[in-house]
Amino acid sequence: MPAPRTNIVLIGFMGSGKSSIGRLVAGRLGFQFVDTDTLLVARDGREIAEIFARDGEARFRDMETSALESLDTRDRCVISTGGGVILREENRALLRGLGFTVWLTASEDVIYQRVSRNTKRPLLHTSSPRETVTQLLAARRPLYEAAAQLTLDTTALSHAQAAEAVMVAARRAFSWDTAG
Ligand code: S3P
Repeated sequence: MPAPRTNIVLIGFMGSGKSSIGRLVAGRLGFQFVDTDTLLVARDGREIAEIFARDGEARFRDMETSALESLDTRDRCVISTGGGVILREENRALLRGLGFTVWLTASEDVIYQRVSRNTKRPLLHTSSPRETVTQLLAARRPLYEAAAQLTLDTTALSHAQAAEAVMVAARRAFSWDTAG
């Protein structure tokens, strides 16, 4: 099996801070920041809501897998993924090969507050977004947990504090720590 690469992969529910925290970590480590949703939108030329509305979620998931596959030669990147990336076993296998995987999580209340600030997420265009968050979180929690090498609860952390915690863990995972 090839050695895991020196990427940091951020997984977690919508609103868990993957992009903001990922950008900070990338800047501090001199890594490139990659966001699979941004990549997918750039390749397709349409926004996520439009892909969901016209082609459906299954097609979006195919594009998501193909965006992940396109990262197979990348190294020294912080990779932020869409919240549903853990749904497919083939994606979970791809994540394992990409590098050090961190699950960013937060309390349900905090997640709901954060996602409520943005109306761009098609999965939350329901009659009760709050209930949808509860249901999706319950279904996905075990999948995030199984895919992650580190779980970081960001409920009480600033983005800077969360970024610092990710870097401390990544240094250890990549054996960059010389002491001890
Ligand atoms: C999704 C999360 C979104 C985006 C799409 C589907 C999900 O990404 O990929 O709307 O299934 O949870 P973020 O987690 O970056 O919001």
